[in-house]
Amino acid sequence: MTLIDGKATAARVLEECRTSLTSLAASGVLPGLAVVLVGDDPASRAYVGSKDRTCRDLGMHSLKIELPASTTQEELLQVVRGLNADPAIHGILVQSPPPKHIDEAAIVRAIDPAKDVDGFHPENVARLALEDPSGFVPCTPLGCQRLLMEYKIPTEGTKVVVLGRSMIVGKPLALLLMAKGPGSNATVTVAHSRSRDLPAICREADILIPAIGKPKFVTADFVKEGAVVIDVGINRIADPSTKSGYRLVGDADFDAIASKCRAITPVPGGVGPMTIAMLISNTIKAARQIHGVAG
Ligand code: GUN
Repeated sequence: MTLIDGKATAARVLEECRTSLTSLAASGVLPGLAVVLVGDDPASRAYVGSKDRTCRDLGMHSLKIELPASTTQEELLQVVRGLNADPAIHGILVQSPPPKHIDEAAIVRAIDPAKDVDGFHPENVARLALEDPSGFVPCTPLGCQRLLMEYKIPTEGTKVVVLGRSMIVGKPLALLLMAKGPGSNATVTVAHSRSRDLPAICREADILIPAIGKPKFVTADFVKEGAVVIDVGINRIADPSTKSGYRLVGDADFDAIASKCRAITPVPGGVGPMTIAMLISNTIKAARQIHGVAG
C-alpha cells in the first residue's frame, strides 16, 4: 500500500509556483489573491487563514476580507465589485458556504470570470465542460488529479467512481477526469445519496473518490482489492483527548480500508494541502492571462 503524501506533493507544486512568481516579477507582475469570509464558521476561518498565509509565504499579494454574519447580499456584492475593479487583485474567492440569507449563486455570478480562481462561475463551468484550457477548474478536483499524476497512477481507460455530486468537487471532478488528455480519459461514474446500492457501485472502482462530507462513510465493503482511494472529506469529529476537542477524519474509514488499497490519501495531509496549492497555481494563471504573460 502506498500512502499518498499530499503535503509533500503540495510543497512541490508550491515550489513550481515560486519559480513562476520569480519569472512574473521580471515582467513586473505581482499576483494578488483576495479571500472573503462571511460569518465565523471555525472550519471556514481556518481554511481562509491557511490560504492567506500560503500567499504571504510565497511573497504574493494577499487580501483577507472578514465580514460579519450579518453582511447583506448587497454589501457582499459591493465587496466583489470592488475586487473585480482592483488591478492588484487577480484571484477572488468567497469562502463557501456563506450564511443562509446570502444567495451564493448570485455572488458567484458577480465575480469577474477572469478572476474566478475557484472555477465556480457559469462561464468557467462551461469552459471545463467544453475542455477550453483558458478556463479555471475548481481547486479540489485539480488537486485530486495532480495527486494521481504525481504518483503515476494511470487514469486512462480506468473506472473512476466519484462519490458526491457537489458543484465544488463531484461534478467538476467528473468532467475533469472524463476529458481528453493526460490525467484524464477515465470512465467516470458519479454516485450520490440517492444512488441504489452504493457499496456495489463503489466496488467497481479502480479509483474511488469520496466527496460527501460524511465521516468514515466508506468502509471495507465499498472497496475493491487493489483500488486507489483519494479521500476528499475533511470532517471534524469530537475527540476529548485532543487539545482542540476535535480531530479531522475523511469520508473513508482509513484504518478499515488501507490494507485493501493499492494507494490511499490520509486525512489530514492528503487532498487538503493540494487544494490550497492549486488555488495559488490558478491565481498565477489568472495573473498571466490578465497581463498577457506566457507561462
Ligand atoms: N469551501 C470548501 N471548499 C471550498 C473551495 O474550494 N472554495 C471556496 N470558495 N469555498 C470552499
